[in-house]
Amino acid sequence: MAKIEACLFDLDGVIVDTAKYHYLAWKRLANNLGFDFTIENNELLKGVSRVRSLEILLEIGNYTATEEEKLKMAADKNEWYVEYISKLKEDEILPGVREFLLELKANGIKIALGSASKNSMLILNNLGLTKYFDAIIDGNKVSKAKPDPEVFILGAEELGISPENCVVFEDAKAGIEAAKAANMKAIGVGDKTILGLADKVVKDLSNANIDIIKF
Ligand code: BG6
Ligand code: MG
Repeated sequence: MAKIEACLFDLDGVIVDTAKYHYLAWKRLANNLGFDFTIENNELLKGVSRVRSLEILLEIGNYTATEEEKLKMAADKNEWYVEYISKLKEDEILPGVREFLLELKANGIKIALGSASKNSMLILNNLGLTKYFDAIIDGNKVSKAKPDPEVFILGAEELGISPENCVVFEDAKAGIEAAKAANMKAIGVGDKTILGLADKVVKDLSNANIDIIKF
């Protein structure tokens, strides 16, 4: 069994719960357009790119828009979202995450971010976590969305570690699929019924330690 030398982390839903802020911003857009957007609807957008999220939202509202209007909508939504996450503080880091990153570092394991979000740097900086990452691959560096493996392949390349020596931590089904397509181990963080393709699933990282990356 290949030894794990690097951990690649998704951001939203693994390191911090930003879904609530995405929800507030998407709901504000939907309400401005004259329809509602529920917390259940928001589940459909987890791990999904900004552009695809907007398409799903417009489908829910049965709302037709031109490409130009869509660009404006996505920009508005992001402006509101950035307003919310600009206030993010270290106390919003999900339980156990910082301790786990420190333990990985102490054990010589490389750490990378693999996120679809174009706001990753702002979030990591506000949480005071940027210094723990040896490589950061975010939505500004990739052209293909998860489940395409691009984001994780680039992360492994930047770290200089072979994919089979990497493990991915993900809360979205598409992210687990991306990890598997990259030929990496995958640890699901969240609901076992959704993340069944993963090699292991944990509820959260509150009790995570170095043993979790032993397969
Ligand atoms: C993912 C989130 O990490 O990033 C999605 O789970 C989000 O909900 C996507 O749409 C893109 O994020 P951003 O910050 O670039 O709009
Ligand atoms: Mg996620």
